Amino acid sequence: MQQKITRDGFASKFGVLVAAAGSAVGLGNLWRFPYMVGENGGSAFLLIYLFFMIVLCLPVLIAEFVIGRRAQRDVIDAFNVLAPRSAWKGIGIAGLCAALVILGFYCVVGGWTLAYIGKSIFSLPTTLPGDYYAGTFTSLITSPVQPLVWCALFIALNAFVVSSGVKNGIERYSKILMPILFVMIVVLAIRAITLDSDMKGLRFLFQPDFSKVTGATFLAALGQAFFSLSIGMGAMITYGSYIPKDSHLVKTSIGVMSTDMLFSLLAGLAVIPAVFAFGISPAQGPGLVFVIFPEIFSKMPMGYVLEILFFTLLAIAALTSSISLFEVLVAWLVDAKKLSRRVAMACVTVVVGVLSILASLSLGMLPNISLFGKNLFNFFDSFSSNILLPLGGLFICLFVGWRMKPADVRDELTNSGNIRLPLFGCFRFILRYITPIAIAVIFASGMGWLQI
Ligand code: TRP
Repeated sequence: MQQKITRDGFASKFGVLVAAAGSAVGLGNLWRFPYMVGENGGSAFLLIYLFFMIVLCLPVLIAEFVIGRRAQRDVIDAFNVLAPRSAWKGIGIAGLCAALVILGFYCVVGGWTLAYIGKSIFSLPTTLPGDYYAGTFTSLITSPVQPLVWCALFIALNAFVVSSGVKNGIERYSKILMPILFVMIVVLAIRAITLDSDMKGLRFLFQPDFSKVTGATFLAALGQAFFSLSIGMGAMITYGSYIPKDSHLVKTSIGVMSTDMLFSLLAGLAVIPAVFAFGISPAQGPGLVFVIFPEIFSKMPMGYVLEILFFTLLAIAALTSSISLFEVLVAWLVDAKKLSRRVAMACVTVVVGVLSILASLSLGMLPNISLFGKNLFNFFDSFSSNILLPLGGLFICLFVGWRMKPADVRDELTNSGNIRLPLFGCFRFILRYITPIAIAVIFASGMGWLQI
């Protein structure tokens, strides 16, 4: 007789929301979003991003939760259970690859946030020349040893949390810290806006100029939206499998999406006005927030203490996101390969460690580690957000829209008929047609295959 496996799970509905929002809110919002807005011309990108979040990402997020909670399995087995012996499990395999690619650069940036905690503790609370901040960042990321040590520490923190399990690991850490981070970013945004006396930054953020928008802008906005919401590769399928049966999936999804959008918007408001006030180019790339935030703190009362606090919270936000990526890989090794959590985590740590070392060195010491004309770090970043996640999202919609039995989807969304869901037909139509076609068109035009 087959034994029923009891899975570790989230203890409460609030815990689910916080853990899923904790996965979503991370470096994607606070580090990647501001520099993408800066590189892609500001407000038009911002508007397209917000629009995509609501009309395209929300359905994908709900679909991932439906798959996960229905199957009660890891990303690959979820497809084996719901569609036995079919090619659909390719979505799960692609998801595992995406997790590795994302972790390959995410842990490097996670390491930078730790390095900045150290730097802010030892920095002198004096005002320094403007180019000092950019110089510090460049010398950190290009140095041969420093970023690797910080990255190793970041990976070790992940290993510690993930190997202690879902309930007392992920849930406990997320609950307390997210609200504190939120308050801090609001304070920073207020400071940045008051620095921007001639409102250039606010105009850059909110006065749309669609003349510079291209297919690539749309794909970048879509990739950013997927990345910041942690969708398109099964992280939310794995989390969905831990959601209690009485949680309202649609409400949870709307909660996660709104929280995530709010954090991104606030991060934009905390960074972009300051960029203009300090006369820095918004198109700096990945260094943007590491250059801007220390400079804002140098112009604030108690900046010394606030800076330490801020980078600590940023590192924790990064951690609550990266553990969701590790969790995808670990859950698969535990469920499908029957490894213990600790052994599984050790295996994943080794692979991610190697990828991170290569990505980090590609920024300084070994610039010729490159793929398709990009250094490895940038390649991991754009390959995952612009290719793997949108395609993953597309197939996830197709799976729920076309392959799953409508009765099963309805059963999950209504908690077996216990809650009302008036727009089910509409939701299914969106998943079957609207979202997949829209993603396909954006993808094709972003890749330059389609002129619109
Ligand atoms: N969304 C996270 C962030 O914004 C990163 C992340 C965690 C992620 N899990 C993911 C991105 C899964 C894509 C897929 O920092």
